[in-house]
Amino acid sequence: MTTKQIREKIENLVDLSTNQTLKETNAIKHIGIDNDKNIVILIIDIHTLGGEAEAKLRRELAKIIKLDLGFSGIRIQFEEARNMHNVAGKNTKFIIVASGKGGVGKSTVAINLGYALTKLNKKVGIVDADIYGSSIPTLLEMPTNSIDVNEKNKIIPFNIYGMEVISTSFFQEEGQPVLWRGSLLNSMLNNFFYQVEWSKNLDYIIIDMGPGTGDALLDICEIIKNGEVLLVTTPNILSKDLTMKTGKAFLNTNHNIIGIIENMAYNENTKEKLWNESTDKFTLLNSIEKELNTEVLATLPFAIAKHHLALYEEDEECGKIYKDIALLISIR
Ligand SMILES: Nc1ncnc2c1ncn2[C@@H]1O[C@H](COP(=O)(O)OP(=O)(O)O)[C@@H](O)[C@H]1O
Ligand SMILES: [Mg+2]
Repeated sequence: MTTKQIREKIENLVDLSTNQTLKETNAIKHIGIDNDKNIVILIIDIHTLGGEAEAKLRRELAKIIKLDLGFSGIRIQFEEARNMHNVAGKNTKFIIVASGKGGVGKSTVAINLGYALTKLNKKVGIVDADIYGSSIPTLLEMPTNSIDVNEKNKIIPFNIYGMEVISTSFFQEEGQPVLWRGSLLNSMLNNFFYQVEWSKNLDYIIIDMGPGTGDALLDICEIIKNGEVLLVTTPNILSKDLTMKTGKAFLNTNHNIIGIIENMAYNENTKEKLWNESTDKFTLLNSIEKELNTEVLATLPFAIAKHHLALYEEDEECGKIYKDIALLISIR
């Protein structure tokens, strides 16, 4: 008897707490055979631990392994399934802030949108998921070594300006480059959601992505299936081109695009445009809107923040615009 044969025998059992089969939820994490003792060892993800669904599954597994397959015994370890609902709260919405290029203002938009949402009495978490260029702790002027762990060994987010913040930089040595690849990168992103003790009643978790359409983006799409995307671009043909590509990558993974934010478009004081734009500017933006079936939500000026390093308050033009964006998003 091989583990593959055992898998085939048990994978169609149903987890009553989700009404899905173990195969559908990819719940069978490990199958082992102890040949000396003639027992089977299983690690199974289940949506709700300790309830009737677990008890029933345990009975059904024992029946198949012992009666049908003739093993002497079975040892099952149930683990709580990594379901996004378990992460922060049933109604938490995930907003992914992305762009094609670096330096267009993703992180700035992420924190300012978060900040504006807190002013609307929303509870907000921020994930700085830019693995190679983490910048949120700097922009929010957070102290270094902000990481703290609770008695369950879960990471406690850093609380600042009423937002809960987790950053890749919490996990790396100061001043050192990060060289995460592939699976390590994936588990890093997973950790943000499953190893972090977020408040259970967060209204939003805003995820600040790195530029482009690389591995991290695909991983995030895999982890957050119901996330909505906010695209950030400058009025620059290169940035817009890449934004279009990033937007399409999200559409290909069935993510909804909330809208586009055009950042650093004009001088706050003189209202002069800051980019020498080619004549096709409007055509390009229009075609992005059309192809991605979305719209430009706001156009922000280039503005030095008055009160903080990168957060704008409501007495500033940017602050007012962020308030409008937050309102728009909160009533969707
Ligand atoms: N509207 C703006 N006006 C002035 N400076 C801005 C504006 N938006 C972003 N910045 C600045 O531009 C730089 C890059 O922004 P950042 O948010 O880090 O971009 P990204 O996350 O896309 O790489 C930062 O120094 C930030 O403070
Ligand atoms: Mg950034």
